[in-house]
Amino acid sequence: MRRLFENINEWKIIQDNIEFEENRLAESIMSLGNGYMGMRGNYEESYSKDSHRGSYIGGIWYPDKTRVGWWKNGYPNYFGKVPNSINYIGINICINGEALDLAKANVEQFYRELDMKNGVLTRKLIADVSGNKIEVNVVRFLSIATKELGVIKYEVKSLNFDGEVTFIPYLDSNVKNEDSNYEEAFWVNISSESSKNTGSVVVRTKDNSFETEVFTVGANMKVKSSKEPKIRTNTNKEYYSENTMIFDVKQGETVGIEKYVSITTTRDYNKDELLCKGEQILSNEFDKGYELLLKEHCEAWNKRWESADIKIDGDKLAQQGIRYNLFQLFSTYYGEDSRLNIGPKGFTGEKYGGATYWDTEAYCLPVYLGVTKKEVSKNLLVYRYNQLDYAKANAKKLGLEGALYPMVTFNGEECHNEWEITFEEIHRNGSMIYAIYNYTNYTGDFEYIKEKGIDVIVEVARFWASRVHLNARKNVYMIHGVTGPNEYDNNVNNNWYTNYIAKWCLEYASENIAYLENEDIEAVNRNNVSKEECEKWINIASKMYLPYDNELDIIVQHDDFLDKELIKVKDLPKENLPLNQKWSWDKILRSCFIKQADVLQGMYYFGDKFTTEEKKRNFDFYEQYTVHESSLSPSIYSIIACEIDNLDKAYELYSRTARLDLDNYNHDTEDGLHITSMSGAWLSIVQGFAGMKTFNQKLSFNPKLPKNWNGYSFNINYREHILNIEVNKEFVKITNLSDKSVNAIIYGQEYSIDDEVTVCLVVNP
Ligand code: BGC
Repeated sequence: MRRLFENINEWKIIQDNIEFEENRLAESIMSLGNGYMGMRGNYEESYSKDSHRGSYIGGIWYPDKTRVGWWKNGYPNYFGKVPNSINYIGINICINGEALDLAKANVEQFYRELDMKNGVLTRKLIADVSGNKIEVNVVRFLSIATKELGVIKYEVKSLNFDGEVTFIPYLDSNVKNEDSNYEEAFWVNISSESSKNTGSVVVRTKDNSFETEVFTVGANMKVKSSKEPKIRTNTNKEYYSENTMIFDVKQGETVGIEKYVSITTTRDYNKDELLCKGEQILSNEFDKGYELLLKEHCEAWNKRWESADIKIDGDKLAQQGIRYNLFQLFSTYYGEDSRLNIGPKGFTGEKYGGATYWDTEAYCLPVYLGVTKKEVSKNLLVYRYNQLDYAKANAKKLGLEGALYPMVTFNGEECHNEWEITFEEIHRNGSMIYAIYNYTNYTGDFEYIKEKGIDVIVEVARFWASRVHLNARKNVYMIHGVTGPNEYDNNVNNNWYTNYIAKWCLEYASENIAYLENEDIEAVNRNNVSKEECEKWINIASKMYLPYDNELDIIVQHDDFLDKELIKVKDLPKENLPLNQKWSWDKILRSCFIKQADVLQGMYYFGDKFTTEEKKRNFDFYEQYTVHESSLSPSIYSIIACEIDNLDKAYELYSRTARLDLDNYNHDTEDGLHITSMSGAWLSIVQGFAGMKTFNQKLSFNPKLPKNWNGYSFNINYREHILNIEVNKEFVKITNLSDKSVNAIIYGQEYSIDDEVTVCLVVNP
């Protein structure tokens, strides 16, 4: 763990010193996004030390040709990547002709804050440039009121000199990805223009041989200055456009500019109209003026917080953690565009260049179910439904039936290429179905199954039915050659989680077919499901092999797990961690160490099917070997720890999930934030501490309070009811903020809640 910013504020991330050593980490943490686009926390002015400049646009991607040592049949031809795109924040500054380079200037004071309540990044610094002292104040936001808009206000005050201050706002599209497979640029210049106080660049993604869409992106800028500059010029060249404004300043005087940028793409407009649209957006917004734009943006963020904020009383670190997670998650995705999904690094880095992983269904969906309107979650399901044909093609490519959803994708096509994951981490397919179950169960919207869901459910069942094999000697079905959620163990046989979710998918498919036979026969017919096929699914499910050890009385992660050398994490000298940075892959694969929830992922998904004792035995066993080197891991363990009344452990794991990036637990936040696992902090509080479950269409709570908290509260949107849940040292209060009454079970007792219900907090020994 390495906490970069020690000054803890409940609504802000505060940096009091300029960071040279860990600049990339600071850049990740200070990222901003508005669901449409986003960027790392780079500086506007130049910085010549190590930095990763990054700005990304939702849904814009490039198929980077696969690079592997040994080609295996079935590999995808490309790995989809989010291209690092136009640098539109850039503003070069010169003081009496000398460039301000933050890595070289003597920075005497530095303060930067990310205001999460309002979605604004501000910076104030005092720097000495060859004896000329300046104070710099910068405000930046990516509007959530107008998605294409970014705004920067940059002011320079002379502290000790009369002289010249030059501002050079620019747009630079000559940008490369650090993770390009063949070190090639993904962008091709189309045009660049500049005038007195405007500029534009247009680029498109390179042509590719994989027949995927080529995207064109346009950036327009318009600049307003605090006074008329004494000299004004503008230039543009390939990939680049700039304005130059030189001001005379007197000591004590402040000069500044406001830079307004719009980003338009062929996802929304024709390529020939990008600049025109961009200009229109800018002239509308420009006329409104900076203050109004900022106000609209802040109000929109405040509205989001009204429904989604979680308040924690008595623990600033925990409070800052949950707000940071929600802020960054919503900066990546707020459900406005059904064509988009949630990438593991959002707009904050390049690694995991793919847009969509199983993370969305497994981790993010419950948060959007809880805090937004149901259409947002439905959009996430429809996204997969729309990609069903690709998933069918993917299964066929592997010689299997039905549909296999990809590990990583942009348009539905698989674009991940490590055989042990691409071909073997097939448990992901189960999460597609679990998400449908979760959505319908939570919202009560069973129409979705009739309209679309059943098509996905059937094809995934067909996949499992063709991927299992019958072990005739033991008369059981098995699944060999898989990688479970724990990616530190590859190519295993009978991963319990995979077998269990496959069995569940087959049962769920046959139940839904039975239901639709009465409700909507057309939905059955269009999928050509016969009685025999359903019987086959039920038969496989009933004979699915699920590894269990009677002596230890625990589920076995996979056939060979217990034959490993079982060393506990606590007995492993600290210098070995994180394993993925310290150990060879060979050593990791042979070890017993677990990267992320595997057996426990199943106990979490199907929590109503296991007793507390079963959860406790399995938690106690597997937790000792788990290193949580996937950001997705600690939240699930935290939730189960709550269920088995191990509150101290639950709290420790909550902190690990909520402060994963702020405290750089896994030593990899410099590559970007762990956006999809940010949902884990919400899950740990709502499903963990508050114990909210929605199994079998019943809303229930089993609230607990960590020792060092005085209380916590949050809202959820459950079946069109807004409920406020408040937990403190004395009581649990559920307030129904909607007009209709709602039923909820609290500590096992069912209440019909019209206004509010208060019960005593149950404290377990
Ligand atoms: C995890 C996967 C996850 C991926 C993207 C990996 O480290 O093991 O489960 O889907 O990251 O977040």
